[in-house]
Amino acid sequence: MRQVRLLPVLIFSLQIVFFTNGMKIPQKQDPLPELKWWDSGIIYQVYPRSHQDSNGDGIGDLAGIQSRLDHFVELGIQAVWISPIYQSPMADFGYDISNFTDIAPVFGTLDDFRNLSDAMKERNIKLVMDFVPNHSSDEHVWFNRSVNRIEPYTDYYVWKDAKGFEIDGTPIPPNNWVSVFGGSMWTWNDIRQQFYLHQFVAKQPDLNYENPKVLTEILAAIKFWLDMGVDGFRVDAVPHMFEDQRYLDEPADPNAPEGSLPDEYRYYLHPYTYNLPKVLDALAEIRQLIDIYTAFDGKDRCMMVEATIPNLDDLFLYYGTESRPIAHFPFNFEFINRIKPGFNGTDILSMVDEWFQKMPPGATANWLVGNHDNHRVSKRFGDYIVDPLNMLIHLLPGSSVTYYGEEIGMQDTWISWVDTVDPAGCNAGEDRYELFSRDPERTPMQWDATKSAGFSTADRTWLPIHYNYTILNVAAQSGSDESHLEIYKKVELLRRSNAFKFGSLETKAPNDGAVFAFSRIYNSTGFIMLANFGDAQETVNASLEFEDIPAIARVYTRSQGFVPEGTFVGSSINTNEIVIGARHRLKEPPTPLFSYYFWNKEHHLGWCPVYKAGSTSWLWNMMILAGFSEKQLENPPKQLSSLARETYGDAEPDVKTVENAVKLLIVRHPFDRLVSAYRDKLSNSSVGHEHGTHHFYLKYGKKIVQKFRTDPTISQIEPTWPEFVRYLLSTDLLQYSDDHWLPAYYSCTPCLTQYDIIAKLETYNRDQGYIIYRLGLDKVLKPRWAHKLQTDRTQLVSSYFGQLTKTEISELYQKYWFDFTLFGYDYKEFLIYGKET
Ligand code: GLC
Repeated sequence: MRQVRLLPVLIFSLQIVFFTNGMKIPQKQDPLPELKWWDSGIIYQVYPRSHQDSNGDGIGDLAGIQSRLDHFVELGIQAVWISPIYQSPMADFGYDISNFTDIAPVFGTLDDFRNLSDAMKERNIKLVMDFVPNHSSDEHVWFNRSVNRIEPYTDYYVWKDAKGFEIDGTPIPPNNWVSVFGGSMWTWNDIRQQFYLHQFVAKQPDLNYENPKVLTEILAAIKFWLDMGVDGFRVDAVPHMFEDQRYLDEPADPNAPEGSLPDEYRYYLHPYTYNLPKVLDALAEIRQLIDIYTAFDGKDRCMMVEATIPNLDDLFLYYGTESRPIAHFPFNFEFINRIKPGFNGTDILSMVDEWFQKMPPGATANWLVGNHDNHRVSKRFGDYIVDPLNMLIHLLPGSSVTYYGEEIGMQDTWISWVDTVDPAGCNAGEDRYELFSRDPERTPMQWDATKSAGFSTADRTWLPIHYNYTILNVAAQSGSDESHLEIYKKVELLRRSNAFKFGSLETKAPNDGAVFAFSRIYNSTGFIMLANFGDAQETVNASLEFEDIPAIARVYTRSQGFVPEGTFVGSSINTNEIVIGARHRLKEPPTPLFSYYFWNKEHHLGWCPVYKAGSTSWLWNMMILAGFSEKQLENPPKQLSSLARETYGDAEPDVKTVENAVKLLIVRHPFDRLVSAYRDKLSNSSVGHEHGTHHFYLKYGKKIVQKFRTDPTISQIEPTWPEFVRYLLSTDLLQYSDDHWLPAYYSCTPCLTQYDIIAKLETYNRDQGYIIYRLGLDKVLKPRWAHKLQTDRTQLVSSYFGQLTKTEISELYQKYWFDFTLFGYDYKEFLIYGKET
């Protein structure tokens, strides 16, 4: 076998059963093709209302986008597509345009646009406009003139007489066509005494492309923006541009989703209003105009079109032909429409293979997982999938598109009916709006943990910000080893290598199709990427199945929360035995073990003990609540924790007890907790200086020393701190078996237990007062324990963490990652003390 220097990109999710063989596309040969910017770089979609607000009105704007350009530079983004910014009454938030050649005041002015465009050019970022040819706003001057039959505008829109009139005089629409956002596609105009057609909302009348003057007008508008120096267009909703001139009723779709109603778009098939052949002719003319500009100045410009067409043979007609090119690419919505929750590696394999097998020779593929019309990835498939999908779309051959926020794994925000503004949601009414509203995926970008997520200085933003913004934001993720953002950046860097630009592609779905894997190899150097979408851990024998794979490979990156935890970035692994944890490893935290909590029915309190995090103080309180006196507790017959367990028992509580209780959790910085556990339980354990520690020596200390002591000159018989850390790092969390170092998320399952109060030891002096007040127990309990502000904490931290390497500290952080993230702790102050090697 030829020697290949291989850096596998591991992601996720045992028994080797078989590989479903996919296809192999050879590497590009010399002379290598010159890649266009849309082939090589990532395109980033900005939803301008939600990107950055510069003037405090709670709505994003052009100056805001300009102020955030460095984010794109950091991400390595090559082009930015901005959703519509033209003048618009905002009935569909910009997709209803009242002037195709001016900017909406809410976003700024043409001068702001020029400034943004210049600033982007300085950074070598291409600017792509979103162009909407299918319709205008009803507030466009053309429409007004058309209503009044002023030439040449009379037939600029699609007008039709009423089919008849009800007895009360109500006009009857020409046919049964239903608009994309629900309700009839026809709206009566009193002045003109005719119906006009709107495939979207009534404020978006469809332009009439049967009238050639309309295309001429649209080409002039496109020319305006080409003259302004834009680098391309995303052309909106193109399959809607033409209607069958027979105006026949559309048939109901026999496969419509269950529960569809007759006034909903999804209830019907759309043979007379969608994807008519003439669409391609009109688009070819738009492309021709764009190519004329390129022929003139040699600057590459891109045209991408939005067409949701399930059948790839039909979709690929949008590429056009060599003699009549149309789009550089139609968007690939396969990840949105074809890949459904519960998918596996075989599903991805067949999707990827079909795309490449059917795509016209020489065409550019493209990959995306989200946009402003679809729920975010974590909502559709679960959180675990953010990194694997980002890796897939950016590392498969072709163009790739990131919808804003995907680089940090932003999640859908729940929006109440009152706050709903999207017409698709509003039209559906209060009971059904959540089925259709696109507001959840359009909420403001989460930049940092400051007010309004750093998006705006306003108290109220146009859509509410996700409450998770204080921990899920760009600032929190930058520089943090295992964040979506840093993984994204690493993947982007990889995309620049020859293996990804020109390398071969070989696809597989090993292990009964649980895993999707592919290799990209160029001149014997390459990568493989593996993603486990199954419910069980898998061991993949990659060297057997892929061509040209060496026995040992190095891990380039891996997804957040990757298991097994021992597979570190930079480590060498055997390619015949690559272990990838189950996809649900992250998604399914252990189920709450309520018998482990302390439940006080009388006072409606449930407390989950996190030992070394204020537990002594709460054990004391629980005992007081159980009727013990302070005096009894000052000299307890046994350790407080044993006494409390004896008093409270460990029976599973009934549902009512759990439901009625105020549930309390007290947490602490995970590293401080570990140092405290070590000092308290292990550092002096052989002499049993504190009650119970000898037990720790026998159960853990002795064994840790036996297994992890490599330095024979150490004389103490208890484990040293680095030995303890080595034990933590090389032991699976599930095997920790001691509460003092078990992560809090494991023992107290904050993702599944709905805590009413999560207090922190660091602010405990203040928090305990609140807890007592919240429980209404101020007559029974008193704040009794003052958390000593450790004045020597820095010294303590440096002396312990100075004994570890930076790698060990990072690995320890990864082990406790959930606790850090869930409770908003930082580990960098510890990292700085680590040794370099
Ligand atoms: C496209 C856009 C969508 C818009 C519609 C009407 O599908 O992506 O957001 O509402 O067209 O312009």
